[in-house]
Amino acid sequence: MNTNRLSKEIAKALNAQMTKEAYAAQIYLSYGSWAESEGFGGISNFLFRHAAEERNHMMKILEYILKRGGRVHVTSIPAPPENPKNTFNCFEKVFAHEVDNTKAIYAIIKLSFEEEDWATWNFMQWFVKEQIEEETMAMIMLDKMKIAGGEKASDEALYTIDKDLEHDTGEAKSAEDVTTEKP
Ligand code: FEO
Repeated sequence: MNTNRLSKEIAKALNAQMTKEAYAAQIYLSYGSWAESEGFGGISNFLFRHAAEERNHMMKILEYILKRGGRVHVTSIPAPPENPKNTFNCFEKVFAHEVDNTKAIYAIIKLSFEEEDWATWNFMQWFVKEQIEEETMAMIMLDKMKIAGGEKASDEALYTIDKDLEHDTGEAKSAEDVTTEKP
């Protein structure tokens, strides 16, 4: 008896997204290593912690494919892009990457809607919320960098930002979770 509950197209899209999340982890690992080499230990820790989050996203999709009776295809992961030019550019690249990932997630949701695969549609809603948080995290970092002077930020300003990020979890509060008591 065939217990596979995923269509060929959905399984293919989910497998591709699983690899995309692994690729995201590689990006954060790569930028984190670059930041450490440039002397920004706080930014580096922040990016390394985020790399672990991306691996968790990958596992979530892998588990979902298996739970729905689909086949997981673990493939090679593309190499991350070039190193950033500076810390401001680092978060510009992070933001661009997250927007790109959001588009890929929306495409899967669109496909699941068209196929009336409500299980996948429902599963992917978690990623919609996560992407809002991740884009927000990158926007907050870009704002901080802009206030510090963007590409011309002083060493002192960058030192302060780097120190702040040492223990920052990168968790941005979603608008949905805000109340008047806890803005
Ligand atoms: Fe898994 Fe940064 O999205």
